[in-house]
This record gives sequence, C-alpha cells and structure tokens, in this order.
Amino acid sequence: MMKQRPTLHSLQSPKKKLPVSSVILTVLTVFLVFLVLLVTWVNLFVYAPPSTQEPPLNLPLAEECEPSNKKTSSIQALPSTPRVLIPAVDEEVMTDSTNATVMGMATGYNIGVYKRFVGSLRKSGYTGHIILVIADEPARGVVEYLSSKGVIMKTLKKVPCTTKIFDEGEKVSGHAMEVATCAHPYPYLKIRWGRFPLLRDFLQECETCTGPVLVTDVRDALFQRDPFGDGAPVVRGLQVFQEAKFQKTTHWLVKGPVSKCKGIVIDDVMLCSGTTIGTREAVLEYLEIMHQEMAEWMKDPKCCCNKMNGDDQSIHNYLYYTGRFPNATSIPNRFGIVHTVGKQAAEIYKAHEKNLVRSRGDKDLAKVVPFPGTKEGEEPWLGPEFDLVDNEGFFMNYDGSRSRVVHQWDRFRDKIQPWLQTSGLVDP
Ligand SMILES: *[C@@H]1O[C@H](CO)[C@@H](O)[C@H](O)[C@H]1NC(C)=O
Ligand SMILES: *[C@@H]1O[C@H](CO)[C@@H](O)[C@H](O)[C@H]1NC(C)=O
Repeated sequence: MMKQRPTLHSLQSPKKKLPVSSVILTVLTVFLVFLVLLVTWVNLFVYAPPSTQEPPLNLPLAEECEPSNKKTSSIQALPSTPRVLIPAVDEEVMTDSTNATVMGMATGYNIGVYKRFVGSLRKSGYTGHIILVIADEPARGVVEYLSSKGVIMKTLKKVPCTTKIFDEGEKVSGHAMEVATCAHPYPYLKIRWGRFPLLRDFLQECETCTGPVLVTDVRDALFQRDPFGDGAPVVRGLQVFQEAKFQKTTHWLVKGPVSKCKGIVIDDVMLCSGTTIGTREAVLEYLEIMHQEMAEWMKDPKCCCNKMNGDDQSIHNYLYYTGRFPNATSIPNRFGIVHTVGKQAAEIYKAHEKNLVRSRGDKDLAKVVPFPGTKEGEEPWLGPEFDLVDNEGFFMNYDGSRSRVVHQWDRFRDKIQPWLQTSGLVDP
C-alpha cells in the first residue's frame, strides 16, 4: 500500500485549477490503480496452490472433539495457568539427567514394549533412574533386558479388591477385569488408581532420585530426546500436560465421573493424567493428593465405582481445575517436555478413513494407503501439511524442535510402525 503513495502525489501535484472532466479522470485513475493493488494484495494472501492430493482433510473434526458440548451447568472452577515452556535466553537449562527419575507401571507387556520405552529413553542420552513396576512373572527376556539398561524393577502383587465394584455373578472380562483387580498394599483402590500411592512409595524409597521426575504411561510413550537434559528448561514445581486444545474436559471421560461425584461440570482444556512432571517434592505431593482424593471417592457410592478405566484422569482434571495442586503449571500441548499426540492422531486417522470411504468406498483401505502427501516407504510418513512431524518423521513441538517425550503415538495405529522401526529410536 505504501508504494502507491508517490503515484498519488504525482497525480495530484499540478496545483493549477483543472477542468471538471480532468478531475473526474484523475479520480477514476486513482480509484482503478487502488483497485488493482487491492486485488493483487488480497490474492497474495488468499491464493493457495491447488492440492494434487485427495480432498483436504477437515481437521480437526468438530464432531467428536467436543462431545455433547452443551454448556449447561458448566463452571469455570479456577482459570488454568498455562505457561509456555521454551527456555528464555536467561533461563536455567538442564544438561545432566543423572539424578532424574522416569517411572511407570509396566506389567504384562511383551519385550518389544520395554525395548521401545526404555530403549528410546537410554538412546536419548538419559542417564537417570528408571523405575518400572513389572508383573511377578514377566515375559521371557524382560528381566535380563531391563537389568542391562539399569532399570530398577518393582514387582506388582495383585490382590482381590476390598471394595466390590461388580455385582455378585456379573460377567467380568477384558478391561473390566482390571477394574476388579487391586494392588498390594492398596486393596481399596482399583489397580489404575493404586498406581498413584505405589509410585509414590517407590519414589520415596529411592534416595538418589533427587532430580526432576516424570511419571508416565509406558506402553504408548517413547522418547526422542532426553527429557531432562539437552537444554530443557529446569523443572520447578509440578507440570501437568494439556492434550490438544480442542479436547475439552466436557468429554465423557471427565464430565461423567466428576458430575456424578461432585455435581459440577468443568469446561476447560483436557489434561492428561498419563504423564506428569515435577521436582521430587512436587511429584511426591501430587501422588499423595491423588491418593487421598481417590480414597475419598472410594468411600462415596456416587464416586467410587465407575466400571471403567481412565477415570484417574477425571480426578486429575478435577483436582487441577479446583486449584488443589500446589505450584502446578498447565503446559499447552507441544510446548513442553511432553507431546500428547493422541487426539490429533485419532482425528487424522479417522479423516483418512473418511476420505477413503468417499473416494473408494472402503475405510479399511486406510490401513494400506499412505497418509495424504506421503508415499509408501518414503519419509516423512505423515505429510508436512499437518505440521506434526519433521522431514525425517520425528514429532515436533510448535517451534519445530523435536519433542522430547511423545505420548499416545499409537493412535496412528499401524501407519506409524514402518517409521518407528527404522527411526533408530527403538532397541532391536
Ligand atoms: C546429582 O546429585 C549429586 C549428589 O547429591 C550432586 O552432587 C550432583 O551435583 C547432582 N547432579 C545434578 C546434575 O544435579
Ligand atoms: C512452591 O514453590 C516454591 C518455590 O518455587 C516453594 O518455595 C514452595 O515451598 C512451593 N510450595 C509448595 C506448596 O510446594
């Protein structure tokens, strides 16, 4: 727009009185020049090269992201305090993960899961403690492998629960089985809840675990960079991690149990209870607060006996958004140490299926047809238009740097496997 000014001046410069027709002509010319410039300028912004791929994915999909998002009785408990974790120039960063801890429940997996989780963690240069709770009869080779990687192994003792969750004679199978199982010495908590006091005990026991701590899901987490080294900002207090920002706590997973138990609905960004970070003190405190709250819920028939797993996430969100975690910071997805890719991955996969139904009438083709913008066996495995992986296929934070911890990567299903197997992250 600036460039047009000289033209205007030169057109107006003759100060002599002009005949009316000349004035009209001048005004018209200026108007036309202006119009041409405007159209050019608008085009610069609006024009995008036509896609040679399949029809554009409508992403994120609106349907399932905010299920039944009727803001009826919603309360904004406490405003979340998201803090973006890109180290400022003068911020203290971590270079040595020796005193750090990564811990989680890892019972009953095949050895491949351990080689992915522990393998990628050690390959990242992480030198700290790894504490895993494994089954009392782990699969063959697991103990040898974990020992060779310096993992501290704890054994889970399953016990019958003291709280009856299922009715006498009710059919219990699969996932529900887990709901009916408890862990010694916490027989009053279903196993998914029992992990909180158990991990607290194991962290407490570890006297050299003085540095930052990551409590994490194991099966669907992997490491691309050292979580507590390699220039990550120093951890202070507690860090809870947001999912994709279009995933809200009005989702049934949180809304159901919290409204039933507490009579409130929270409408904010969903926090994932699968990964939490903090100083040793902050994590010990967090795990104990979760434990206390769970013990309370168990005593109340309105709260105790959801026949589902994953409702620890309901409690995690409830406690954070009611201000019960001291010194907690809510980290937007892809801005901190953890990248929770699940929601977006699921939407990308679903959209891929939808496109294949539309174009070829078969959603199962999604298993074999590469994602839009990619070719079979070529990198990256996910097109650049998603802005999620770099040109070698590694997951990126918003600033383009490689994410340290990638959580819920498995929501890409088999489509991520070829890359994962050749990424060099996983132990053979
Ligand atoms: C780890 O702990 C030891 C013993 O307390 C201490 O000397 C060392 O400085 C710590 N290292 C880091 C990187 O904090
Ligand atoms: C919160 O963090 C500050 C320092 O960052 C610390 O002094 C204080 O004890 C912490 N409070 C709690 C309740 O953990």
